[in-house]
Amino acid sequence: MTLIAAVSADGFISTGTGVPWHLPRDKEHFRRATRSQWLLIGRRTYEEMTGWFEEHHPLVLTRSPVYVPPAGEVVASVAEAMQVAAAGGASELFVCGGGEAYAAAMPCADRLILTHVDSMLGSGVPFPPVNPAEWQETAREDFPADATHAHALRFSTYERLRSPAQAPDGTL
Ligand SMILES: NC(=O)c1ccc[n+]([C@@H]2O[C@H](COP(=O)([O-])OP(=O)(O)OC[C@H]3O[C@@H](n4cnc5c(N)ncnc54)[C@H](OP(=O)(O)O)[C@@H]3O)[C@@H](O)[C@H]2O)c1
Repeated sequence: MTLIAAVSADGFISTGTGVPWHLPRDKEHFRRATRSQWLLIGRRTYEEMTGWFEEHHPLVLTRSPVYVPPAGEVVASVAEAMQVAAAGGASELFVCGGGEAYAAAMPCADRLILTHVDSMLGSGVPFPPVNPAEWQETAREDFPADATHAHALRFSTYERLRSPAQAPDGTL
């Protein structure tokens, strides 16, 4: 399971509604990483992104037993999302936010694809804490601010550190 997010320097993904920056390079990065993939999306973020899904397999995280999304299917938990995606033939599930969905999925995540945005939001929807002792950065790409990007960006990939005998759920 991979969490993919853009995070401010002070740890927020949004000031409340919508994405708080216009960064075409990050949009393209997100589109490339998630193209044709199985996605897990919190119901609020899903509603912001309605109409965006084309060849994806969106799974909408909700506690509502009656919610019917216009595209994709509903799941009531992260565990159910993993089962549905595996049954559908997915080799990977991308968690695309928002804050509640990231927090629910973080314990099961194997990989983080984070865009570090050089911007301070001050408050808003937080990305869950990332314990540096549990993650190793395996790729990094830096981009300065430019005419179309008000903020510098860093694309970083982190893999969860595990001992060789450790199972993905943390048991030995
Ligand atoms: N910067 C980024 O990379 C990025 C990425 C994505 C989103 N965002 C932003 O994040 C914000 C939204 O985040 P959010 O935290 O408010 O909402 P969210 O995570 O998108 O959705 C929250 C909803 O998901 C469902 N849910 C959450 N946890 C659940 C669980 N454990 N089991 C079952 N259902 C669960 C509930 O739906 P019901 O109420 O239907 O039960 C809840 O209301 C938006 O501003 C969006 O633009 C930013």
